[in-house]
Amino acid sequence: MTRRIHLGAFAFHPGGAHVTGWRHETARPDRHLTIDHYKHFAQTAERGVFDTIFLADGLYFWDRHPSGVDHYGQLRLEPLTLLSALSVHTKHIGLAATISTTYNEPYHVARALASLDHLSGGRAAWNLVTSRYDEEARNFGGDSHLDHSRRYERGEEFVRTVEELWDSWDDDAFPADKESGIFADRSRLRTADHRGEFFTVRGPLNIARPVQGYPVQFQAGGSPAGQHLAAVTADAVFAGYRPLPEAQAFYRGLKEQVSDAGRDPDAFHILPTLQPVVGRTRAEAEDLAESLLASTPDALIVEDVSHSIGQDLTGRSADEPFEYEQQIDTSNESRSPNRRVDALRAPTGPRTPREVYARTFREGIVVGTATDIADEIEERVEGRAADGFIVQSLTLPYSLDRFVELVTPELQRRGLTPEQYTPGTLRDRLGLKRPERSGALSVGV
Ligand SMILES: Cc1cc2nc3c(=O)[nH]c(=O)nc-3n(C[C@H](O)[C@H](O)[C@H](O)COP(=O)(O)O)c2cc1C
Repeated sequence: MTRRIHLGAFAFHPGGAHVTGWRHETARPDRHLTIDHYKHFAQTAERGVFDTIFLADGLYFWDRHPSGVDHYGQLRLEPLTLLSALSVHTKHIGLAATISTTYNEPYHVARALASLDHLSGGRAAWNLVTSRYDEEARNFGGDSHLDHSRRYERGEEFVRTVEELWDSWDDDAFPADKESGIFADRSRLRTADHRGEFFTVRGPLNIARPVQGYPVQFQAGGSPAGQHLAAVTADAVFAGYRPLPEAQAFYRGLKEQVSDAGRDPDAFHILPTLQPVVGRTRAEAEDLAESLLASTPDALIVEDVSHSIGQDLTGRSADEPFEYEQQIDTSNESRSPNRRVDALRAPTGPRTPREVYARTFREGIVVGTATDIADEIEERVEGRAADGFIVQSLTLPYSLDRFVELVTPELQRRGLTPEQYTPGTLRDRLGLKRPERSGALSVGV
């Protein structure tokens, strides 16, 4: 039997996932900060019956190297502000915001997500990240980023505190009875009174329990600490795109961790990223992939490779061979596998910055016709490497438009995705239970 899959439409940068996707002939960078740009994105995803849209975020402007400022289309609208606006331009699709647990407070986040969940009728979700770069620390009173493992410890306490706050009120706590004058039923209130290592939060939250109980929780950390946090708290993970056997091992391992944590692995979705480059013919798709790669200026290639491998190559030609000799420890940024470093270490691996850049670009995309892309999706789902995908558009809006025009009908024809939405919340659509309100009641006022 065909397995029904889940799809998210990802907006990494306003111009698409590729760093210079904004240069594509159809792209409109002048509209990146307009509601119309995102309305088109969200409504296209909704036409394709995606489960959710998902906005990436970072709390910094990447100006580490001059090319980041010169060439990188990285202006971003704040995700929760944007999703609130999109909630009135969409009807069914989930609204997922990336939110950092390192540079926020639980009360703010619990309140903002509960608000979005109420306004959207149960469509809110968050992508919990612990943040990555020192640039982010410098915007919040620090010089360098909190240690990787401490970030995840803080992340776990953060989620638990947010959940305690969402559980401040029973679902039927607000009779608002005009006759008696009773607005809230005090016996249905519990203050969180949270006193932990990182947070002290009394509560209660000044908003009713979210429509979904808890808005859906996604995570994207791929390190052992990231996987552990996901296994004990998340509803789904966004994973990087890996070769099939590696993706299957990741899938198996993470589902086991979920099971070991006493949770149901079938109610936990693993959604790797998929970067489809689709054309009516393979040649057309190849041309598009090549043109996007060629749109990246040499300076950005060299400086992006420098950053990601932790070695200063700045000032060199993109075509000058170099030896890999890591100079800067990047392990505090991420402990997920580093594809570029792995490629450089391989005996037959790339030798120049351009080759390194092109190799990981090619490895991360799937190029072909709608049938090719649907085959890849089906193979990974049937092969237990994925429960669905986060579809990354290399250039926006073009790549998502093409996906919905060409690939969506093929997925629907194969019974992999639905042809229309059924009523319900995002949680219902993902086959996830509404969490019970936890803990014993104690009157808080
Ligand atoms: C699909 C996907 C999307 C991600 N989106 C974001 C994002 O929007 N913001 C962010 O700070 N990190 C993002 N990340 C990075 C991870 O959340 C994580 O911070 C990073 O992988 C480093 O943590 P790790 O060492 O646990 O992997 C994303 C990762 C993946 C795979």
